[in-house]
Amino acid sequence: MSLPDELTIAQPDDWHLHLRDGAAMASVIGHSARQFARAIIMPNLRPPVTTTVAALAYRERLRAALPAGHGFEPLMTLYLTDQTTAAEIATARTSGAVAACKLYPAGATTNSQDGVTDLERLGPVFAAMGEQGLALLVHGEVTDPDVDIFDREDRFIDERLAPLVERFPGLRVVFEHVTTTAAVAFVRGGPATLAATITPHHLLYNRNAMLVGGIRPHLYCLPVLKRERHRLALVEAAVSGHPRFFLGTDSAPHPVEGKECGCGCAGAFSAHAALEFYAQAFAQADALDRLEGFASHFGADFYGLPRNTARVTLRREPWEIPPDYPLGPTRVIPMGAGTRLDWRLLAAAQ
Ligand code: DOR
Ligand code: ZN
Repeated sequence: MSLPDELTIAQPDDWHLHLRDGAAMASVIGHSARQFARAIIMPNLRPPVTTTVAALAYRERLRAALPAGHGFEPLMTLYLTDQTTAAEIATARTSGAVAACKLYPAGATTNSQDGVTDLERLGPVFAAMGEQGLALLVHGEVTDPDVDIFDREDRFIDERLAPLVERFPGLRVVFEHVTTTAAVAFVRGGPATLAATITPHHLLYNRNAMLVGGIRPHLYCLPVLKRERHRLALVEAAVSGHPRFFLGTDSAPHPVEGKECGCGCAGAFSAHAALEFYAQAFAQADALDRLEGFASHFGADFYGLPRNTARVTLRREPWEIPPDYPLGPTRVIPMGAGTRLDWRLLAAAQ
């Protein structure tokens, strides 16, 4: 297929986004609002967003920080803990503001220390979520210190996710930021209630990109980048047109000082060029005609939300990603800093 010079698609949504809070949030929210109509907002703030009251207050702060003229809609999530109750799930549903709950195994990633230690105990909560129609968003890695970091996703599938999906057939589950051939196979072979998000960094980079020729801390994220054969499986899933794989950037800004230090935080910031990164990955796979389903249709369908009617246009027009962007009082180093992207998103239709 020869590459087109312009591609117009329905406006996309980001089904996995970290916006943080306060001044940092105010600096980054515009990047997402420029591209996406809606986004699932992750709740791993400090303290985490564990209640509907907290989610509503956070949504107000997000809305207040939005640049004028953007109709960006934050879809809120609750952070599950060992203390979450079925009553809180009912309250979340009634609010109309909460789309899903996020399961962080305690200790798995950034601000997950208050996460879930025992999945068994949350049975009534998962049952309530299934009844109320709230999706369960899963960070799929075991946290056992004896398990190698490159094996943590595979082990989570066998030990936790497969039993969970089987036990709660009425519960919609999103296996977030999948990174392995096993995860792709598990989602493909799973029921219609099981889907996955795929990030731009896991589509574009393998672990060599992070570790060969020097360590590149801005590509360090969790789940960590894997081998090339895993990246290829993710690309294949994303461009396949399978409706249970869809866009979720996991854009996760950290201050430059938190990344470039002796013990750097996990997280790659990709919101500045999210759709352009996906376009790059799809163009490399000669599959730009599949971008719209992945970016703009399948996620909405899975969440039971209407597809966006506004349209956006990507133009083949090389540009260089700046070295950094503001992040509150400091800076964030964006994914691909200083490198060239072939696609540019024109101003989104409102
Ligand atoms: O790399 C990551 N960063 N993975 C996560 O799961 C969390 C995220 C963050 O919040 O920084
Ligand atoms: Zn995330």
